[in-house]
This record gives sequence, structure tokens and C-alpha cells, in this order.
Amino acid sequence: MTILKIVNLSRTYMKGQVEIPALRDISFDVEDGEFVSIVGRSGSGKSTLLNLVGGLDTPTAGQIVFKDRDLAGMKRSGLALHRRKSVGMVFQSFNLVPHRTALENVVLALTFGGVPRRERKPMASGLLSRVGLSHRLDHRPAELSGGEAQRVAIARALANSPEMLLLDEPTGNLDTLTAGEIIDLVQGLNRDRGLTALMVTHEKDTAEAVSNRVIRLLDGRIAESSGRRRVP
Ligand SMILES: Nc1ncnc2c1ncn2[C@@H]1O[C@H](COP(=O)(O)OP(=O)(O)OP(=O)(O)O)[C@@H](O)[C@H]1O
Ligand SMILES: [Mg+2]
Repeated sequence: MTILKIVNLSRTYMKGQVEIPALRDISFDVEDGEFVSIVGRSGSGKSTLLNLVGGLDTPTAGQIVFKDRDLAGMKRSGLALHRRKSVGMVFQSFNLVPHRTALENVVLALTFGGVPRRERKPMASGLLSRVGLSHRLDHRPAELSGGEAQRVAIARALANSPEMLLLDEPTGNLDTLTAGEIIDLVQGLNRDRGLTALMVTHEKDTAEAVSNRVIRLLDGRIAESSGRRRVP
């Protein structure tokens, strides 16, 4: 089944009077259960693409069909629901709430997702143990290592059982060893739980090692798409 269908997608930013075409007429599909990586030079449009799929931004032209619903035609409320329920996002800079503990950061996502109060803490604790962090529930972001902070962000992204994980350079701030552990974690979620993943990365080797397919962007266009493999 196709979970995401991108059709003739363009996003042009206006900087004063100057048009900046960040994405130009892009089309591709993602099948349920696939792990797709997006690579490309700085400024090629990777984050723009991920933000559009995550409902954080709206396109200038084209369609983003997520399970038969076009995000391009959605109102703010529809996009907010998409962000809360359908996708889980993970960023290079973790984006955790600084004065909250690991547990509270995940609880917060469950609150936004409408999980009843009494279920939130046990659920958050379960999610954190799934990412190997049961021993750091009471640590604030500043009291966590980069790898641990990213695990909290992944637990938070999983909180409302999303259908797709969107990761924008999730290992960009981590050393090689820690980066490998985070990639293993994401790969495990994809392989063992069938969670669809769309990941932006600078590391072509990692992309080729872990994903079904690698899409390379160049100046806002798809320059290359390789390695498609059937998903079981
Ligand atoms: N809000 C904005 N206003 C104007 N231009 C923008 C805006 N956001 C991005 N751009 C421009 O759009 C282009 C694509 O940016 P984008 O952030 O998608 O690149 P990227 O591939 O993620 O790069 P990096 O690898 O450095 O993260 C760049 O030329 C950038 O300067
Ligand atoms: Mg980027």
C-alpha cells in the first residue's frame, strides 16, 4: 500500500522580491513499511521536503497525499491533527523542552495526543524503556548526553503511534559511535514494527546501508533515486 504520494510538489520561498525555489516539481511515492533516505548537498531542499510531509509548512504547488488525504488542501486544524497523530518528527537538535524531564517531555506529547491523564506516565515510561532509557526518566535535557537526548526525542515521536517517522539529520550532532546506535534504533523500529521512515541524512553510506531507497536531491529536484526493494 502507498502511504505517501508526492505529486509535482513545489515550494518557493519569497525573500523580499526574490523567489527562492527550494523544491521544484518533485514526485515520488513511499510504500507502507519502507525506509527511504533523502540525501543531497546543503540547501538542496531536504528539510523543506520533510517539513512539508510533516505538515509544518504548506506547498506552493502540487500534492502531498498521506493515506488518501492531500495535505495541500488541508486547513490548519487538519494539519495540526496530522502532526499530532499521523507523523512523528525527529530533528538534529532534539528540540526537547529544556525545563522538563525526559519522562515529562514524552508525557507532554501524550497530552497533546489526547491520552487520558492516568495513562500518560506509564505509557511514557514504557516508550522510554523501548528506546533504552529507563534509567534516565528524571533527567532534564541538559543532564543527558546527545545520544540520550535523541532517544527521548524518538520516544516522544513514537508517543501517539504515528504511521510514519520523519527524521531530519537525526545523527547530525552525534559522534560516529552514538550515531550508529541511533540509526540501529531507527532501523529496528522500521524492521521489527514495520514503521515507515523517511530520513534526511548527509551520510550516503549510512543511507545506503539502512534504507530500501535513497533519493538524492539537487537544487530542489530529484537527481537520482536508487535501490528500490520490495517491502515484505
Ligand atoms: N524560510 C525560508 N525563507 C527563505 N528561504 C528559505 C527558507 N527556508 C529555506 N530556504 C531556502 O531554501 C533552500 C532549501 O533549504 P533547506 O533547508 O530545505 O535545505 P537542506 O537541504 O535541508 O540543507 P541543509 O543540509 O543545510 O540542512 C535553501 O536555499 C534555503 O536557503
Ligand atoms: Mg536541512
